[in-house]
Amino acid sequence: MEKSDQFEHPINDLIRNRKSTRSFSEQPIEPERIASLFEATRWAPSSTNEQPWVFIYATRDQPELWNQLFSCLNEGNQIWAKDAPLLILSLARKNFSRFSGTNSYAMYDLGGANSFLSLQAVELGLQVRQMAGFHKQRTIDLLNIPDQYEIGVFIAVGYPGDPQSLPEKLKHRELAPRERFLQQEFVMNGPFPPQPEG
Ligand SMILES: Cc1cc2nc3c(=O)[nH]c(=O)nc-3n(C[C@H](O)[C@H](O)[C@H](O)COP(=O)(O)O)c2cc1C
Repeated sequence: MEKSDQFEHPINDLIRNRKSTRSFSEQPIEPERIASLFEATRWAPSSTNEQPWVFIYATRDQPELWNQLFSCLNEGNQIWAKDAPLLILSLARKNFSRFSGTNSYAMYDLGGANSFLSLQAVELGLQVRQMAGFHKQRTIDLLNIPDQYEIGVFIAVGYPGDPQSLPEKLKHRELAPRERFLQQEFVMNGPFPPQPEG
């Protein structure tokens, strides 16, 4: 599948400037900016307006909770996330609150909310990196996560730092061009072609 590291068509500056960074400055994030990040998630769309997302966050000046969140990350993520001034765990309620039954769009909606948070971060001069690399059972146990919640991702947030301070291998990845599939690889203007029988 063909890729390119160029923006092939005009897009919104927040999308253009978003990047999953691994290098964070030690500068703390102002409480009102943290509130704006979560405000952005409030206004994300969701199936039946269920708003199934839930967040647990900790800043570096809450060492006990920050360390609990940090200790749930896998080792590969801890190497760089150790400098993040803000860690967030994102979760979704599995069941509808106003109807009976499972909300099969809960994780879809959580992903949308996390994207809103990521773009709001750029607006505030911040960057985020989402993480699926964490110890699930440890997270459930340490944070007393009830059965009705599904864990999404952890999110590291901070002001961009100096990539040169990262370990050599990560520095290389951090500075590498970001590639994406060309639209022709995933956008169709018609149905899938007939599939061979079999
Ligand atoms: C659901 C999800 C899980 C991810 N998990 C990790 C992770 O565990 N560790 C990591 O370093 N990056 C993780 N990432 C970041 C991706 O690697 C990154 O988004 C991708 O390489 C594209 O780069 P960009 O976000 O800078 O465009 C994750 C991103 C998403 C959306």
